[in-house]
Amino acid sequence: MHRTCPAMKNKRDILVTSALPYANGPIHVGHLVEYVQTDIWVRFQKMRGHRCYYVCADDAHGTPIMLRARQDRIEPEELIARVAEEHRADFADFRIGFDNYHSTHSPENRHYACLVYERNRDQGHIASRTITQAYDPVEGIFLPDRFITGECPKCGTPEQYGDNCEACGASYSPSELKNPRSAVSGAQPEERASEHYFFRLGDFEAQLKQWTRSGSLQKEVANKLDEWFKAGLKEWDISRDAPYFGFEIPDHPGKFFYVWLDAPIGYMASFQNLCDRTDGLAFDDFWGLAADAEIYHFIGKDIIYFHALFWPAMLHGAGFRTPTAIFAHGFLTVDGQKMSKSRGTFIKARTYLDHLNPEYLRYYFAAKLGPGVEDIDLNLEDFALRVNADLVGKVVNIASRCAGFISKRYDGRLSPRPAEPALFAEFVRAGASIAEAYEGREFSRAAREIMVLADRANRYIDERAPWVVAKAADRMQELQDICSVGLNLFRVLIGYLAPILPGTTEAAEDFLRIPPLTWDVLSEPLVDHEISKFKPLMTRVEPKQIRAMVEASKADLAGADTDETHARTPRTEGYLARAPIADTIEFDDFAKIDLRVARIAAADHVEGADKLLRLVLDLGGETRTILAGIRAAYDPADLVGRHTVMVANLAPRKMRFGVSEGMVLAAGPGGKDLFILSPDQGAEPGMKIK
Ligand code: 2FM
Ligand code: ZN
Repeated sequence: MHRTCPAMKNKRDILVTSALPYANGPIHVGHLVEYVQTDIWVRFQKMRGHRCYYVCADDAHGTPIMLRARQDRIEPEELIARVAEEHRADFADFRIGFDNYHSTHSPENRHYACLVYERNRDQGHIASRTITQAYDPVEGIFLPDRFITGECPKCGTPEQYGDNCEACGASYSPSELKNPRSAVSGAQPEERASEHYFFRLGDFEAQLKQWTRSGSLQKEVANKLDEWFKAGLKEWDISRDAPYFGFEIPDHPGKFFYVWLDAPIGYMASFQNLCDRTDGLAFDDFWGLAADAEIYHFIGKDIIYFHALFWPAMLHGAGFRTPTAIFAHGFLTVDGQKMSKSRGTFIKARTYLDHLNPEYLRYYFAAKLGPGVEDIDLNLEDFALRVNADLVGKVVNIASRCAGFISKRYDGRLSPRPAEPALFAEFVRAGASIAEAYEGREFSRAAREIMVLADRANRYIDERAPWVVAKAADRMQELQDICSVGLNLFRVLIGYLAPILPGTTEAAEDFLRIPPLTWDVLSEPLVDHEISKFKPLMTRVEPKQIRAMVEASKADLAGADTDETHARTPRTEGYLARAPIADTIEFDDFAKIDLRVARIAAADHVEGADKLLRLVLDLGGETRTILAGIRAAYDPADLVGRHTVMVANLAPRKMRFGVSEGMVLAAGPGGKDLFILSPDQGAEPGMKIK
């Protein structure tokens, strides 16, 4: 039972979650969009006096985590404990104010995963059947699609993943790959049969349709759901065979819950863990069928299927209430492109913190975030300009323009009488619209409206020119009034910014000697009140700090689990074994390959192809046009003028997007991790490689 307009209620009980980060890789700026967005919303709710709880956890199960631990020769428990510490520290330093941070590898999660499964099973929502899958005989594990590589069945390009070809764009199933190999051991996979358990998603079609129409989903999300309904709801494989790092299915020894079954249940587990150590907080008041509380999940748009279909369906089947709403957001680009290690824009949370104040990024994200699923861009130049202009130049400046006079001339005491009541009232009135913007996750609007007020406050100080008034001995009261008005306006602005800038707010509260701000107290000015000596609350972003961060990110190429945009999709990176060495060939066979130094004379995107770049290669008098599957790894502009190595006598190949007259040599597993070869200095276009 949910209210139609919870925002109208006086005291709300709200449970909020962010998606659980995988426990095998670092937090980076792409992740932070979501944690910052959620944290701002939660802080706002708390400031309004609601009982709002923000829980999260590490997502600790699954094949990638098991394999990463194997690779590091440690137990998965040791890996997840280490990563959990790093995640907690990163979040704490970005002032993400979780009320609880737990793990999916916990007793509470085992309890709820089993309960949700058993209740669904008892209601007939679990089916079983035998399926065949690729099995790695060396590692002794079944291989997820992304862990199988081979030659594309359509164009023959080697080392393609088991689901689609990066060169020609074909999609296929792993069993169609030619010469398939396990990406873990390099062994040839075998087909093996095993019994799997499936969640019958289709049983919940009616409830899911009703939930979709409840009006609490974003328009884009509801549209996506409609598409999925049209395509038909398929049964979902919720089991994995041993060995698997996860929870064993109670009645099926040797079978484990798939990581995505117990991941969202981790929201419940983390909340249970919080209830267990908080007097008066009861699990059923939030998750029970009759619960009156609101539940919101903030997620990335790539995991809507799990949260808007599987998750509410599983909850229905297990007799729990469903979430009030899912809030999906878009991905982050940096300087207009996917985050890239080679460009130094794959920025880990820790690398950012080593160089810059977290408040800057929180503000910049807020200034860009709206309620929809559009991607947002972190433009590093704009970032510095915006933070310096808005926070340092406008907001903090108000306090620094007024505080000196109050400490030096009035012993730190604000005026005994409230001046400029109309101006102050204008600031208080603006709070209603700002609050509405926060509530609706229109943070960019909130930031904009706050900056309009900051401009207004600065204009007031300009007009009243306290530095002139200070020169006249008979205008002492006026000077105290002006500066007190300025500081009171500053206090209101900081109150409005508090959800975005918790660190600056704390420092401002110390300076103003006031208890933590709530939304309600902002309507009363400080009168005849003593404040502390002003210390600069924030310094300017210096371009050299940004340069140093980008350089450090380039140097720091050893990140794990690094999907470029969002790092939500578990990648094989880091687990990818060296491709097996091919069969021995004779020298004569090798001599047939004519390798040449080539200069990249031109490089462009190929319209309609997401994986390809068109390169014009200069072979010293002769040019060749080739199509290379390196789009994810290179910006065409960065390639022009570089020397590389090509196979010059490869027969022209007709591909979907044109004819390719040769091939450039590149190393690496694929996607963004491809590195074209460069000859040493002195090698000239056309030279033969021997
Ligand atoms: O995509 C991801 O990064 C997952 N670890 C998110 C899980 S969210 C929830 F379902 F637990
Ligand atoms: Zn292909």
